[in-house]
Amino acid sequence: MEDYFVQLKHITKTFPGIVANDDVSIDIKKGEIYALLGENGAGKSTLMSILFGLYEPDGGQIFIKGKEVSITSPLKANKLNIGMVHQHFKLVSDQTIAENIILGAEPMKKKWGFIKSIDIDRANKEVAELSKRYNLEVNPTDIIKDIPVSTRQRVEILKMLYRNAELLIFDEPTAVLAPQEINSLLEIIKSLRDNGKTIILITHKLDEIKQVADRCAILCKGKLIDILDVKKASTQQMANLMVGREIELEEVREEVKKGKVVLEVENLSYKDKDKVSKISDVSFKIYEGEVLSIAGVSGNGQVEIADAICNMIRATSGTIKLNGKSIDHMNIRERAEAGIAYIPEDRQNVGLILDFPLYENLILKEYFREPYCSKHGILNFNEFKKQSNELIENFDIRSGKGCETTVRSMSGGNQQKAIVAREIALNSSLIIFVQPTRGLDVGAIDNIHNKINELRKQGKAILLISLELDEIMALSDTILVLYSGKVQTIEDAKNLSKNQVGEYMMGVHNNA
Ligand SMILES: Nc1ncnc2c1ncn2[C@@H]1O[C@H](COP(=O)(O)OP(=O)(O)OP(=O)(O)O)[C@@H](O)[C@H]1O
Ligand SMILES: [Mg+2]
Repeated sequence: MEDYFVQLKHITKTFPGIVANDDVSIDIKKGEIYALLGENGAGKSTLMSILFGLYEPDGGQIFIKGKEVSITSPLKANKLNIGMVHQHFKLVSDQTIAENIILGAEPMKKKWGFIKSIDIDRANKEVAELSKRYNLEVNPTDIIKDIPVSTRQRVEILKMLYRNAELLIFDEPTAVLAPQEINSLLEIIKSLRDNGKTIILITHKLDEIKQVADRCAILCKGKLIDILDVKKASTQQMANLMVGREIELEEVREEVKKGKVVLEVENLSYKDKDKVSKISDVSFKIYEGEVLSIAGVSGNGQVEIADAICNMIRATSGTIKLNGKSIDHMNIRERAEAGIAYIPEDRQNVGLILDFPLYENLILKEYFREPYCSKHGILNFNEFKKQSNELIENFDIRSGKGCETTVRSMSGGNQQKAIVAREIALNSSLIIFVQPTRGLDVGAIDNIHNKINELRKQGKAILLISLELDEIMALSDTILVLYSGKVQTIEDAKNLSKNQVGEYMMGVHNNA
């Protein structure tokens, strides 16, 4: 008999209006990397939440090492040596790395033989040892809020290891990382397997599955479709199976003639509250029918440029013109009204009101206008819903209860589709996309890329900020590379190779 760590048998879970998991059975062998692949809303996170004790299934059984168990809470999951890294990390930001790792499992010491207190020296030492043993470099006394995302992720992994997890579940761990960091995470995952751990990995990136996974289960609309031996399957096969249609992994673009200048940014600079320079002296123009992308390693000022254009942050100096007129004096709403649509990076905090229904979120920027609001200030919810249903259809936004669904209950990828739909519907002359396809499945990425190409053809000016170099190479007319807040080059995309862009991103050359 195979040596299984976990066996899920006939798991079913329904939410109002939707079957999130429909009779799913999978067996995970001890010491393998098992990938879960499926469209946005296919039920991946739900299935893992059941295994981690966050949700109770409506039906089905779970076996751990051959014994049937009932996992009623994450604490119970921990006791069964199951750990999970959620997509949104759960760390205490004012505490140190070691304090976070030991939280709830603190080593204690006795003072004068009877007063118990936390043995922080021992905790620091244990964390340092663990970090050395698994090659997960951290400094135990650093404070969480001062460390970058990739280190926080290592802390989450150490937290699982500290609790002796043998099965480690990762829900879209690479979605928050820059390309260079992804490789080192994948190496970490492989070395955990080589140390005898069992891994479940949820990701939308087919090449990551190809790179590390042994087997891959494909879910579609709650059902298990297939289980593949990754070595024998191609990424094209995986994509077709999960979406249920042929997906073009290569994209073609038509020639579009540029029109008038839409956005003109001149000598834009920004210093943060600690007077640290984040953007210095950046100038560029975007024309009608043009996609200009800003490439850069995460945190080199790209997002600050987008935020300054929308006035989410106030530029320290420089001027911004939209359709020939200065917008420097305008506030956020006035700029939006003047013709700027913005798909922000942080969809949960900036883009959506999670506890509102989908139809209110989809009309969030227009509710004060006719036909959504009468001259006398009365809201017309029927119009809200009519427009929402069109967007839901057009952008294939999937959820349990259509436009009435509370956004918080929607899958991550479908929340992202909702923001993109709303902003495109504004029909603005400039559309700013920051990481528009983060967390989306290959089919949804294909749809958004087609939409961007369509908008370009309609003569919109598009500013695209992305960490995905492939996305930038596929969609741009012009590429601006930013390093340390400064323009390294700004060139016709046809004249740049992916490697060259990569070199500018590392600050190796400067052509500006
Ligand atoms: N707490 C909840 N209440 C109601 N519906 C929910 C809840 N959690 C998930 N759902 C629904 O269950 C379905 C599956 O969601 P799930 O989050 O498991 O998808 P996913 O495969 O992880 O998608 P993504 O790739 O977008 O993260 C979705 O349609 C979602 O709207
Ligand atoms: Mg998910």
